[in-house]
Amino acid sequence: MLSNKKLVFGITGGIAAYKTAELLRRSQDLGARIDVVMTESATRFISPVTFQALSGRTVYTDLWDARVPNNMAHIQLSRDADAILIAPASTNFMAKLANGLADDLLSTLCIARGHCPLLIAPAMNREMWLHPATQRNVEQLRRDGVHILGPGSGDQACGETGDGRMLEPAQLLAELTAFFQPKLLAGKRVLITAGPTSEPIDPVRVISNRSSGKMGYAIARAAQEAGAQVTLVSGPVALNAPYQVSRINVETARQMHATVMSQVHHADIFISVAAVADWYVSNASDIKIKKTSEQATPDLQFSPNPDILAEVAALKDGPYCVGFAAETDNLIEHAQAKRQRKNVPLLVANLAQRAMNADDTELVLFDEQGHTQWPAQDKLLAARQLVKNIAQRL
Ligand code: CTP
Repeated sequence: MLSNKKLVFGITGGIAAYKTAELLRRSQDLGARIDVVMTESATRFISPVTFQALSGRTVYTDLWDARVPNNMAHIQLSRDADAILIAPASTNFMAKLANGLADDLLSTLCIARGHCPLLIAPAMNREMWLHPATQRNVEQLRRDGVHILGPGSGDQACGETGDGRMLEPAQLLAELTAFFQPKLLAGKRVLITAGPTSEPIDPVRVISNRSSGKMGYAIARAAQEAGAQVTLVSGPVALNAPYQVSRINVETARQMHATVMSQVHHADIFISVAAVADWYVSNASDIKIKKTSEQATPDLQFSPNPDILAEVAALKDGPYCVGFAAETDNLIEHAQAKRQRKNVPLLVANLAQRAMNADDTELVLFDEQGHTQWPAQDKLLAARQLVKNIAQRL
């Protein structure tokens, strides 16, 4: 996801600097090549040796570094970089950046960066973050086109609680990978259902299905990366909500239906990925059903669940609707019929036995022109391709 990306990580003085070591490692796992530049204060918190060992590359700390052939590390380092990320960015460093000071290698490099994008992850005590001078500097940096990541909120190393924590490495990694995605859905609101539903038989037993939620969650992430505001209505799955996606947890199809109907009026796009149970147990018991000699098997009765996608697709002035279909056989015929029955402009199908619980998928897209088969690929890559395809159709 960061393959062929050349990044400069700038590290300034802050206790959060130790987290940047993890971020560097994870970014390299995704294919990035990273040069590290540290301020003098940063080296008080973590040694350059740590970053040299992790990156396998020279770490720069000095404006007058004689190892750089032309002695111009501040120019050289940013020239072929795809982005500079300052993490942690201290109060002092942000003040220097906002005012154009250039008195060490990192600040000089930032001023000399030309068109290279600059992302900064502030990390400081909450009073320092809230100080009017810092807030003025943040505003100025935004106006200058600097991307401010976070900060987060919570317990601080100083013992206080509030805004100013550096984002966690996983969150910064999500910000970094999203930064390189085109903002094809900027300003759009996307509502997505994902995962299975779970229909109670009694307080301890349910009827559910094998959906892992991976595809729906990948689409939520891809839509968020593309600049959309994403709401994910999720059945029970073992996945974390993608970064900056607002998740609403539900259990049954009827809860999913009620939640979708309450959210859909705010949505521009509805992507129905959930494997919704077709029936619920209408005589579910309030107490645990016991095995008895007279009743060898319980007498379960079923009633149909609402068809959420068909109902949303039938709304007057409703969102652009995308359906999904996981089939075990006759994929083309079933999916074509399903698209027409649900009356959606786009339906995405795959073979259930290959896609369920897997990390990759082979999608076939059905629209009124016919169908198009995509090669097997990782679900996040498939999700990004789908988001691009949907954006082109809008
Ligand atoms: N869907 C839905 N509500 C339901 C059933 C399905 O919103 N009660 C949506 C799914 O999220 C998916 C599409 O409809 O986008 C197709 O789901 P699928 O289960 O494949 O289709 P069904 O209509 O249930 O048909 P069948 O189970 O007979 O294949």
